[in-house]
Amino acid sequence: LSVNASEAAARKMPKNLFGVFFEEINHAGAGGLWAELVQNRGFEAGGQSIPSNIYPWTIIGDESSLNVSTDLSSCFERNKVALRMEVLCDSKGNNATFSSLVMQNIEQGKTYKVVFYVRSFEPVHVVVSLTDSGGSKTLSTASITADNASKWTKVEALLEAKGTDHNSRLQLTTTRKGVIWFDQVSLMPLDTYKRHGFRMDLFKMVADLKPGFLRFPGGCFVEGSWLRNAVRWKETIGPWEERPGHFGDVWNYWTDDGLGHYEFLQVTLYAFLQLTLLAEDLGAMPIWVFNNGISHNDEVNTSNILPFVQEILDGIEFTRGDPDSRWGSVRAAMGHPEPFKLTHVAVGNEDCGKPNYRGNYLKFYNAIRRAYPDINIISNCDGSTLPLDHPADLYEYHTYPDANGMFSEAHHFDFSSRSGPKAFVSEYAVHGDNSGQGTLLGALAEAGFLIGLEWNSDVVAMASYAPLFLNENDKTWVTDAIIFNSYQLYGIPSYWMQYFFIESNGATLLNSTLQANSSTSLIASAITWQNTEDNKDYLRVKVVNFGPDNVNLKISIDGLEVNSKQPSGSTKTVLTSDNVTAGNSFDEPTKVCHFIRTVQNVTLCFFLVIEFL
Ligand code: AHR
Repeated sequence: LSVNASEAAARKMPKNLFGVFFEEINHAGAGGLWAELVQNRGFEAGGQSIPSNIYPWTIIGDESSLNVSTDLSSCFERNKVALRMEVLCDSKGNNATFSSLVMQNIEQGKTYKVVFYVRSFEPVHVVVSLTDSGGSKTLSTASITADNASKWTKVEALLEAKGTDHNSRLQLTTTRKGVIWFDQVSLMPLDTYKRHGFRMDLFKMVADLKPGFLRFPGGCFVEGSWLRNAVRWKETIGPWEERPGHFGDVWNYWTDDGLGHYEFLQVTLYAFLQLTLLAEDLGAMPIWVFNNGISHNDEVNTSNILPFVQEILDGIEFTRGDPDSRWGSVRAAMGHPEPFKLTHVAVGNEDCGKPNYRGNYLKFYNAIRRAYPDINIISNCDGSTLPLDHPADLYEYHTYPDANGMFSEAHHFDFSSRSGPKAFVSEYAVHGDNSGQGTLLGALAEAGFLIGLEWNSDVVAMASYAPLFLNENDKTWVTDAIIFNSYQLYGIPSYWMQYFFIESNGATLLNSTLQANSSTSLIASAITWQNTEDNKDYLRVKVVNFGPDNVNLKISIDGLEVNSKQPSGSTKTVLTSDNVTAGNSFDEPTKVCHFIRTVQNVTLCFFLVIEFL
């Protein structure tokens, strides 16, 4: 491998080249990144009519002591369903107990905040407790009384856990005869990231990737199987108690929308920026994917699309409008008067082939261009092989091949037009029967693909792995970068593979040539960048050997200046294992992970990174 380290033969890569794509899939947000421990907290999972679906809430113990139903008496206009609980008799030993049966992680010594709304014509006395999954061991308890709750009354308490249970539950217990209504029951740990509501370990795992952008909130989640179930941003803002929530019918679960449009913008974006110390507004720019009037099964005709277009213009105004503007003032009222920096929006998801896509797209395109000329508008149509037949600033490219297919896709953009819109590879992953929950082989193929994107970063602007998260209790879409349960997590090899590309954002791609007997199984790139922590210049060579044979690699570097201020040295980092089908697990979370050692004699590796200081 010959590397030419002189600047003359080099090219700067985009500073947002590698980022992350968050989709509400596999309970990634509800029951995952969003740290709310209660599911269906407003009892609306059946929609805005009654009887509603109260799952996973249930009666514990003697069912004859309680009548539980739903009615439309809530004080919240956008979500009228409330739970009506009639306690049939005073009971001494046998309390009337109602419980949220969600897998919850409660940890000894940590504090949890419970909030709910209650109404009753009698004085209210409710015991709130956190118990183990069987209900026999109490981890924490608090008594709540409200002498006059004839109107809806908000109550809250802090619960300090005296024990640990990874599958615990929240119980509401009363012994007094009469009728009590409950609504909007929330339980959150206090130690979320910056108290912004994000589960700490999951958040950190994503932030560690130092993403250059965040694409949200989907994926198919944005489209819906039917338009009536597609995500609508206006329903996800405002006080959490007032959000109606919605049933994501593509991935088949209810979400209370605690992680809404504002949280994506404010918390995820800004927190990533702070954590990654990208102080000068470099990274994690938001990329909002919005519904374009098209779902998997129904579409709005272009002649009727204008209200949808207005909804999106309102969303942009909410995001980056003046705090005095109509929607900017709503954002300001939520606590963020400064506009967010939104420069990229995507018109729908994977809808290019649908009958109304082009018609609808143009309506969105023209309206957004007119109102916000600086916003980059992303089309769903692939322009990598043929030019687009409509105007766009970027086009999306999604790919989910098997490992061999992914490795050969390293050259996909080699022949793409060098003029016109650039590519946004917003979803890539090795996927299919043999990829399971992630293997070394898959990660190697993806690493080869990303090296190819580095080479083509004059026409590929951004790329993100998909999907990001999988909650072990909802394996709807396998394979995913980060796998978690209520208290553990691990990155699959593809997660660790992305570590090798963190410094590529904004780095300089050097010219390099690989000469090999079997060059089809090898791919390599070389970059330089300045490390902001030690202000030193680094040169990194990445090589993937996707073939079955050992390779002896000789690397020569021309034009590298070494002086006393910048002493030289090198390290080797390898992502490998004795078995290409190996993956990680909760028991062995870093079985396939990168490891670093000082270079001695490089003879063989699967994915090799050599760094020269
Ligand atoms: O990433 C999972 C799904 O794959 C996305 O929702 C969709 O865009 C694609 O088909």
